[in-house]
Amino acid sequence: MSYRLTVLGTGYLGATHAACMAALGFEVLGLDVDPAKVARLQAGELPIHEPGLEELLQRGLESGRLRFTTSYEEAAEFGDVHFVCVGTPQKKGEYAADVSYLDAVVESLAPYLTRECLVIGKSTVPVGTAQRLADKLTRLAPAGDQVELAWNPEFLREGFAVRDTMHPDRIVLGVVSDKAEKVMREVYESMLAEGTPLIITDYPTAELVKVAANAFLATKISFINAMAEVCEAAHADVKDLSLALSFDERIGGRFLNPGLGFGGGCLPKDIRAFMARAGELGADQALTFLREVDAINMRRRARMVDLARELAGGSFRGCTVGVLGAAFKPNSDDIRDSPALDVAVKIREQGGKVTVYDPVALGNARKAHPTLGFGSSALDAARGAHVVLLLTEWQEFIDLDPERLGDVVAARKIVDGRNALDAETWRASGWHYRALGRP
Ligand code: UDX
Repeated sequence: MSYRLTVLGTGYLGATHAACMAALGFEVLGLDVDPAKVARLQAGELPIHEPGLEELLQRGLESGRLRFTTSYEEAAEFGDVHFVCVGTPQKKGEYAADVSYLDAVVESLAPYLTRECLVIGKSTVPVGTAQRLADKLTRLAPAGDQVELAWNPEFLREGFAVRDTMHPDRIVLGVVSDKAEKVMREVYESMLAEGTPLIITDYPTAELVKVAANAFLATKISFINAMAEVCEAAHADVKDLSLALSFDERIGGRFLNPGLGFGGGCLPKDIRAFMARAGELGADQALTFLREVDAINMRRRARMVDLARELAGGSFRGCTVGVLGAAFKPNSDDIRDSPALDVAVKIREQGGKVTVYDPVALGNARKAHPTLGFGSSALDAARGAHVVLLLTEWQEFIDLDPERLGDVVAARKIVDGRNALDAETWRASGWHYRALGRP
C-alpha cells in the first residue's frame, strides 16, 4: 500500500520533508497555519534559500503529488501518516524550549482523526514530550488508540537539507508498537535499501539522540575554539593544531574548524534546552559542561570584536568596517543567532560604520537590522574599509582576489573569522592578516 502523507509545519524541516517525500513518489499534503506561506509554496516559490529544494518543490507540484493547505480537517481526512515538523524555539528569557507549536498541532489535528493513522514527530523536543503528546492524541482523537505516535528525529543540515533527507546517515525511530515500525519501513524503503542504519528504540531515547548529537557537535566546535584561546595566549597556531588532531581517526577533522563558532536555529538553542530539561529531571550536573560550551562559543564573538578593534587602532569611532557574511553559515540565508550579524551589530554599537554583504542573506539581515549598512557585493562592502572581516565562509569570499579587494579598501587589514583564507597569499599582497587562534 502506498500511504498518503501529510507534513504539518512547512518551515525548513517541513518544506524539505514534504518535497522529498513527493519526490520519492508519495502523495503529500503540506499544512501550515500561515496562509501567505502556503500560497507561496503552492505557487512553487520557496520562502527560504536551500540548494535544490525549489526545483524539487516545483516538480512535486507539477506531478500533482504535492499540495499545500491551511486546513487541519483536510489534512486529517487525507493522511495515513502525519509528519509533525513545527519548530521548538528557545523561550524568551529562558533556556527551555517552547513546545507550544507542537501542542497546537496535536490539538488542531486530533479532533478530526476518525480513523487509524500514524503521527510521526520529527521536531527537536525536550525528552518526555513524545509520551505527553501521545497521551494527548489518544485522548483528543475520536479514533482513540487507533491513532499512534512515533518519534523520528531529523538530523538535516541547512544547505544540505535535500541530500540529508534523501540519504540520511541513520534513521532513528522511537515506537511503542510493531505497527509503527512496519509503516515507517515502507515509507523509508528507498533509504533502507541503500543500507541506511535503522535504530528502533523507545520515545525518550529517540528524543535524546537528537539533542545528544547536537550537544556533541557543539562541544566539538567549542573544544577547538577553547584550544584557539590557549593558542593565542601561547603564540601557537590553532589551524595547524586542528589539522594535526584531525588525522587521529578517533577524533576526525569534521566540526573541528576553529573560528567564530556556531550559530543558527539549532545548536545554540538545543544545548540550552537540553540543560534546562536535564535540570527538570534532576540531572543538571551531567550537563553543566554545556554551559561552558555555550560560554566559549559566545566568547568567540567578543574576541572577534576585540581583534577588529585592535586592527582599527583601538577604537571604532570614525572607522569603516566591511563585513563579509551575514548568514550563520554558508549556503544558507538563515540569520537566526548568526555570529556574523552579532559581531556586525556590536561593532556598530561601538561607533563603527559597518557595511555588510552576503550572497543570499542580505534581505533577511536588512529586515532584522535596518540600521546596519549593506553593500551590493563583497567589493562594495569593503570599499573604503579600514578593516575587513570575513565572518561567514562563502566560497566566493574564499575565492576573493586580495589585490582586487586591496584596491578598494582604505587599509589592507583583514580578520579571517573562519580560518578560511590562505594567510600567506594575503600577506604576500601586503595585507595585515589576523585570525582567531593564530599568531
Ligand atoms: C545542525 C546539525 O548539524 C544538524 O544535524 C541538526 O539537525 C541541526 O543543527 P545546522 O544548524 O544546519 O545543523 O548547521 P551546522 O552545519 O551543524 O553548523 C552549525 C554551526 O557551527 C554553524 O554556525 C557553523 O559555522 C559552525 N561550525 C561548524 C563551526 O564553527 N565549526 C565547525 O567546524 C563546524
